This record gives sequence, C-alpha cells and structure tokens, in this order.
Amino acid sequence: MAATDNSLSNTASRLPFQIPEKLIHSLRQAQKITALTGAGISAESGIPTFREAQSGLWARYNPEDLATPQAFERDPDLVWRWYDWRRKLIASTRPNPGHLALAALEQKVAQFALITQNVDGLHAAAGSQSIIELHGNIFRFYCNRCRRPAPASAAQAQSPPQCAYCRGMIRPDVVWFGEQLDASRLDAAVKAAKSCDFFLLIGTSGFVQPAASFPYLASKAGATLIEINPAASAVSTIVEHVLRGPAGEVLPGLVQTVWPA
Ligand code: OAD
Repeated sequence: MAATDNSLSNTASRLPFQIPEKLIHSLRQAQKITALTGAGISAESGIPTFREAQSGLWARYNPEDLATPQAFERDPDLVWRWYDWRRKLIASTRPNPGHLALAALEQKVAQFALITQNVDGLHAAAGSQSIIELHGNIFRFYCNRCRRPAPASAAQAQSPPQCAYCRGMIRPDVVWFGEQLDASRLDAAVKAAKSCDFFLLIGTSGFVQPAASFPYLASKAGATLIEINPAASAVSTIVEHVLRGPAGEVLPGLVQTVWPA
C-alpha cells in the first residue's frame, strides 16, 4: 500500500534534509538509474577512504606510492603486504545500510547500473546484481606477466606467489595508478552513464579519471544528477540535487521516501 503523503513527509522529515516533492515524484517515474560509488559508501563499514590518512603501520605510506606497477616491481613484498592488510581489514567489515539501500533501489527500477570505484566487494555482499567493478576487486588475482587469472587462494600467501603457467608474479586484480582500465568494464560504464534518467554520485571526491568524467557524460546525455556526500566534491557544481549527508543515512532515507515499502 502506497504510503500517504503525511507518512512520506514523516519519513522525509526524519532525514537530515528535505527531499523536494518534485524530485520524489520524478524519481518514481525513472526507468533507468545509474549509480557511481566511491570509497565514501564504504566509510561507514569502517574502511578508510583514499584521501583520509592511512592508519597504523601504513600511516607513513601514501596509497599513490604503493598502488603502482613501479612500486610492485621495486618492492613486491611491500605492495603485497599492503594489499594483504587491506584484504584483512575489508574481510572484517560488512555492507552498511548505504550498500543495502542501493541493492534495494536496484529492485525498484526497470533498469539499474552500479559503477563502483571500490575494490572491496561490499556491493556484491549487499546483494547488488549489476555491478561494474571499474577498478577491479581486491579478492581476485592474476599474473603480472601473462595476465592469466590466479586462484583466490593466493590471498593466503605472505608474498606474491608464482604463476603456475609462466612463473611470473601474481598480483591483486586492482587497477594501479597509471594503468589502463579493463576496456569492457569501461565501455559498460560509459554506456550506463550515457543512457540513464538519473545519475547518482555517491561517496566519491570526483578527482580520479575516467570515473570523474561519467557525471559529465550523464548530464550531457540529459540525466538528472544527484550527489550523496557529506562534503562537496569536484563535480558538485554540475549536480542538480545535493543530498548532503552520509550514504548510510541518506540512501535508506531516499529509498524509503521515494519507494515506500
Ligand atoms: P576519495 O577518498 O577520493 O573520496 C571519498 C569521498 O567520500 C569524499 O568525497 C568524502 O567526502 C566522501 N565520504 C566520506 N564519508 C562518506 C560517507 N559516510 N558517505 C558518503 N560519502 C562519504 O575516494 P574516491 O573518490 O573513491 O583509485 O577515490 C577514487 C579513486 O581514487 C579510488 O578508486 C582509487 C583512488 O586513487 C584506484 O585505486 C585506481
């Protein structure tokens, strides 16, 4: 049974902000919604974002100095240990209400695409289906030389295992700075950005290309942009609607308000 307006406004009023009625109704009419997520959506699961200082042993390292092919060539064990630390941190977390709300939203619209810059696998764990892991996945591995996939058991190793085929070094299946993205994933993401009614920008600072260009592609193709982030991002200026708050609160509130159960 559709919630009546006053229950809608009650739900809406519980949010840290008001969602304009016009936006609520046009979201309901949406046939295709594309979401782009960044590290911010996993922040409430306890995973530090990129631009937050790293904690503990890794505090003195800058991700940009570890997540590169050069760093892996120079000191494979160091890079491997850093990813092992991140894998263990991520394995101790679970999807937060923001991830879960996106998985619920996917069931509310005819077509939905989720482009994520995150490599933590939390969207899949939350039940999202149509995920484009633009920057890969920290729990997958491949050979740095012949690029053949390597078994997930590589995660148990303390240093880069050797490839069973060519004896090259096994590495995490994540995009390093300066590396090309997987062409099929990039194509799918561009298509999803260019063919949606609404483009949701969630928990990303909007600095890193090519993901940072997707909101522009979506806007040029006629989509309405909604940003969900407690702070401004590099693309806030082109966004029509800004929902200033943490994804773990805003997304559940948005889904409950627009598509009441
Ligand atoms: P950043 O660390 O650059 O930005 C995180 C964003 O999340 C910021 O805009 C924060 O304001 C926002 N944020 C923080 N807490 C939030 C919350 N609870 N809810 C919603 N938003 C929140 O991370 P990304 O934009 O994801 O690339 O960085 C993009 C890429 O830069 C990463 O994928 C990585 C890095 O280089 C590669 O690894 C190739």
